[in-house]
Amino acid sequence: MSPWWRHAVIYQVYVRSFADSDGDGIGDLPGVRSRLPYLRDLGVDALWLNPFYPSPQADAGYDVSDYRDVDPRFGALADAEALIADAHAYGLRVIFDLVPNHTSDEHPWFRAALAAPPGSRERARYLFRDGRGSLPPNNWASAFGGRAWTQVADGQWYLHLFAPQQPDLDWTNDEVREEFRSILRFWLDRGVDGFRVDVAHGLAKDPEMPDLGAGQATSGPAVAGHPHWDLDEVHDVYRSWRRISDGYPGDRTFVGEIWVADPARLARYLRPDELHTAFNFTFLLAPWEAGALRRAVDESMQALTAVGAPATWVLSNHDVIRHVTRYGGGATGVRRARAAALLMLALPGGAYVYQGEELGLPEVTDLPAELRQDPTFLRTRGADPGRDGCRVPLPWSGTAPPFGFGPGTAWLPQPAEWARLTVDRQAGDPASMLSLYRSALRHRATVPALTEGPLGWLPADGDVLAFDRGPGFVCVVNAGDRPAAAPDRVRGARLLLSSDPLGGNGVLPPDTAAWYIAEL
Ligand code: NOJ
Repeated sequence: MSPWWRHAVIYQVYVRSFADSDGDGIGDLPGVRSRLPYLRDLGVDALWLNPFYPSPQADAGYDVSDYRDVDPRFGALADAEALIADAHAYGLRVIFDLVPNHTSDEHPWFRAALAAPPGSRERARYLFRDGRGSLPPNNWASAFGGRAWTQVADGQWYLHLFAPQQPDLDWTNDEVREEFRSILRFWLDRGVDGFRVDVAHGLAKDPEMPDLGAGQATSGPAVAGHPHWDLDEVHDVYRSWRRISDGYPGDRTFVGEIWVADPARLARYLRPDELHTAFNFTFLLAPWEAGALRRAVDESMQALTAVGAPATWVLSNHDVIRHVTRYGGGATGVRRARAAALLMLALPGGAYVYQGEELGLPEVTDLPAELRQDPTFLRTRGADPGRDGCRVPLPWSGTAPPFGFGPGTAWLPQPAEWARLTVDRQAGDPASMLSLYRSALRHRATVPALTEGPLGWLPADGDVLAFDRGPGFVCVVNAGDRPAAAPDRVRGARLLLSSDPLGGNGVLPPDTAAWYIAEL
């Protein structure tokens, strides 16, 4: 059996919106601990937790002021340790989020940098530069809107590819490199099974800091020749981290958040002595269309196979519009999301489930402006609605907000109609999204082909995707808007699961996927 991370289904816990134990309206680590039985019963293999470290929360915890502790809002260091222990007792692995591209502006290093003069050792850990006259050093833009430079009292500017409260570190600096190696060891010593690496394609910057040229944006997947995304120098960092993780027992792992346009460039991060896996954003970005989905799968598999790395399929996360809404919303969005789940969970490699997708939650689009907290919304003055709509706290039970999220309120309001989407409500309904995910994950754990079988495409009509995973298992997806006949290969095969009821003779209605056990 290959190591767990090559085929794991990993549940993304967005801590502040998962479960609140103390009634302050913000989810926390004791809340996560209390819901571990839910994750075990769902059938996932591991959880990835978004950052819970001490942080002023200028970017929901991606502005870290202490990498070795827990923010009091989310609990205490002992809660993180207990969470690892409890999860392991339930047979679940645990991945923490590592944020190496930038710290918080309240990190002691940045405070020291502000207090120290230009040219000092303190400033050298960050990217301070002189401006061009009264202008910033170059035209780089923040991914959250506005420029990527902020001027300090003595006239120098510092770089922040995200919010001004997230100053970028200088990864050519030895102290920076050593500090992060030590942070890795701190958590590995406490038993964490791996790390999700934030902005893994962003650590190195062109030392000349040239202006962004035509077609070189800050947001969106990186294209070749970009001055601050996907530079070759980042790979050295990951080679040194891999040497550390390999020194620990028990298959510790890294998953990179790497937004690059070319799957072959992505694969470079997954060479055998670098990161283990990366999120597959090509798949996430593909429209619900058979040709586009197949291309995303093929291109990814081809590039990753060349370096011996497994794929990890993703449909949603805390940065993108929830896929029920992305795929059209309403009943259509839900049908497609159900079919997409069976597609994703039948592909070779690992998969990520973002909390709430197993409940079929849609994006919340009508949040009041004064409650929105995403810096993207604030820095673009609302032109970009930002990511709060996919971060609304989970509905667990009951008929009114906060739907069992915690004993108090919820930091973002939950729609009243989520009463029919609660975990409790769906758990007893065999036709619910939750029941579909539970069944699919149960089969995934018991059908060996789903873990180890190679992908083989089967001939199928234009809107249909059909593939096997070795001789025994077949997945068919009708992504079109007309019913489609199932391919010959599944005539007489046993239907294992379908995303919605099939028609007579095994006809697949529009936006439906089915899994079959095909006897030889
Ligand atoms: C990617 C994270 O997923 C996102 O939420 C965050 O805003 C940026 N990196 C900056 O850390």
